[in-house]
Amino acid sequence: MERFFFISLFLLLLFVTTTFALPLSTDSRWIVDDGNKGRRVKLTCVNWPSHLETAVAEGLSKQPMDSIAEKIVSMGFNCVRLTWPLYLATDESFSDIMTVRQSLLKFGLFEAVSGFQVHNPTVLDLPLIKAFQEVVACLGKHRVMVILDNHISQPGWCCSDNDGNGFFGDKHLNPQVWIKGLKKMASMFASNVSSNVVGMSLRNELRGPKQNIKDWYMYMKKGAEAVHSINPDVLVIVSGLNYATDLSFLRDKPFEVSFRRKLVFEIHWYGFWNSWEGDSLNKICGRETENLMKMSGFLLEKGFPLFVSEFGIDQRGSNANDNKFLSCFMALAADLDVDWALWTLAGSYYIRDKTIGSDETYGVLDWDWSSIRNSTILQMISAIQTPFTGPGLMETQPKKIMFHPSSGLCIVRKSLFQLKLGSCNRSESWKLSSHQVLSLTEERILCLKAYEKGKAVKLRLFFSDFHCSKWKLLSDSKMQLLSVTKNGTIVCLDVDSYSKIVMRSCKCLQGNSSCDPRSQWFKLVTSSRRRSKSKPFIQISPYSKTFLQKALSV
Ligand SMILES: *[C@@H]1O[C@H](CO)[C@@H](O)[C@H](O)[C@H]1NC(C)=O
Ligand SMILES: *[C@@H]1O[C@H](CO)[C@@H](O)[C@H](O)[C@H]1NC(C)=O
Ligand SMILES: *[C@@H]1O[C@H](CO)[C@@H](O)[C@H](O)[C@H]1NC(C)=O
Ligand SMILES: *[C@@H]1O[C@H](CO)[C@@H](O)[C@H](O)[C@H]1NC(C)=O
Ligand SMILES: *[C@@H]1O[C@H](CO)[C@@H](O)[C@H](O)[C@H]1NC(C)=O
Repeated sequence: MERFFFISLFLLLLFVTTTFALPLSTDSRWIVDDGNKGRRVKLTCVNWPSHLETAVAEGLSKQPMDSIAEKIVSMGFNCVRLTWPLYLATDESFSDIMTVRQSLLKFGLFEAVSGFQVHNPTVLDLPLIKAFQEVVACLGKHRVMVILDNHISQPGWCCSDNDGNGFFGDKHLNPQVWIKGLKKMASMFASNVSSNVVGMSLRNELRGPKQNIKDWYMYMKKGAEAVHSINPDVLVIVSGLNYATDLSFLRDKPFEVSFRRKLVFEIHWYGFWNSWEGDSLNKICGRETENLMKMSGFLLEKGFPLFVSEFGIDQRGSNANDNKFLSCFMALAADLDVDWALWTLAGSYYIRDKTIGSDETYGVLDWDWSSIRNSTILQMISAIQTPFTGPGLMETQPKKIMFHPSSGLCIVRKSLFQLKLGSCNRSESWKLSSHQVLSLTEERILCLKAYEKGKAVKLRLFFSDFHCSKWKLLSDSKMQLLSVTKNGTIVCLDVDSYSKIVMRSCKCLQGNSSCDPRSQWFKLVTSSRRRSKSKPFIQISPYSKTFLQKALSV
């Protein structure tokens, strides 16, 4: 029995990996794989910085390149947004002559050199541009897609308003040099050379006093056409103004390019950009979500993919502002089912500003790039690694799943009539009728009933609407599901400490900043995915998992 499952899993994985046919295109708001009948490919990337002072992909003094690529795959990411400084492509005396060793020694990074000697000795004496190509090739070997992101011009930490790298015409952003660099990278990673390079981000976080809409249209069009003319296979990824937050001007005036099915827009979103504490969290999340839809989210409805190419939180888990942001982010990211890239893979940097071996608390890997910094947070984010719907993923009629953003889990069955939180793969699917009845879409004779405050919410037989509770999405976040019990008490759906779904007093409907509604947040997310069976089909023992990984790497 076990062997049979093992073999079928093996075949399944083989099938999955070999049907991954690039290049990618767009089909309305979705990124799809033309070589695979236009099936959706959801980009779930992690940022791997390679644009800091040394212009070398970070972490290679800590772990072998192959093992970093393996970690990326094992954490469930299918893609890397690999950052590069413009001068790596335009200053040949720098990129083609200076070796990794020389670049590290320029900053006195003796320890990093020793680390390279242990972990990546063959990379140490390569010119910088060759080392960059090695990283792309290594990711390709591990079937990881790459998006090349022109992050800055001058190698170094990014970004501020007056760093001379912010907008066209700034000291370090000469538009002609920029276009030359984009063309160089587009040809260096053409699809007959690096088929895993699936996209190019034209420029990271435009900003500063010079930014203006007129120049944006002019130069971004030039950059987009330049990349497409050299490498017509890659997705051309375009960001807006104000640190990649503002694309609102596209509402009135479209971005016109000569090519089709390759254009993707990109935005960034961080919790530290504003306070999530001064007001009621329902209000802040509602407001920020609305703002994001106004600034860029509307592009999905206009038929363009939106790639949230940077978001992230302090992985120590102790930053309350970031944690609140993440719950709100998860709700929107699941609801819109967007493509994204987490900031960041890096557990530490060779040197950042003047700090040698600088720790990156936003890194999913720890300081020495060996283990996951916080698996709880990664587990939560993994909920949005699986696409909920899209071309080729219409396995069922679209229905709603009840997503719990602050845990990354969904409402699943605990028993015939009881519910709990569990993996979204096993999520029950629901229909919210015009009469506000929540019923199961598979077993349509069951609906959700609020019996008594403080007790479990239950499914009950649904003969007529009269037998079911009526549910309303309320509060400023529109994520609290409110109903009324038998004796007239107003209650909200909540989760108890055993992950059971219960009815409690509604939190924070009029609350202030000290009130935390997150346990009661539920987002009704559209899904067309088939539900996995509640008893796991196959149980992978740690032994068979390692064996599988070995078998697949030959
Ligand atoms: C890739 O294609 C370009 C032109 O399409 C060609 O000039 C180049 O030699 C090709 N490279 C390889 C490695 O085949
Ligand atoms: C991970 O993050 C969670 C909160 O999101 C926190 O409670 C926990 O302490 C963190 N764990 C580690 C190992 O930092
Ligand atoms: C959910 O399903 C996806 C795709 O079928 C799989 O990659 C992922 O590991 C599953 N997650 C869990 C928690 O079972
Ligand atoms: C309804 O029931 C709850 C819990 O059983 C109780 O606390 C509450 O006082 C009751 N409300 C009314 C209006 O009877
Ligand atoms: C917030 O509300 C709670 C109770 O709802 C109250 O005890 C607290 O003083 C309020 N805080 C502020 C800053 O208004």
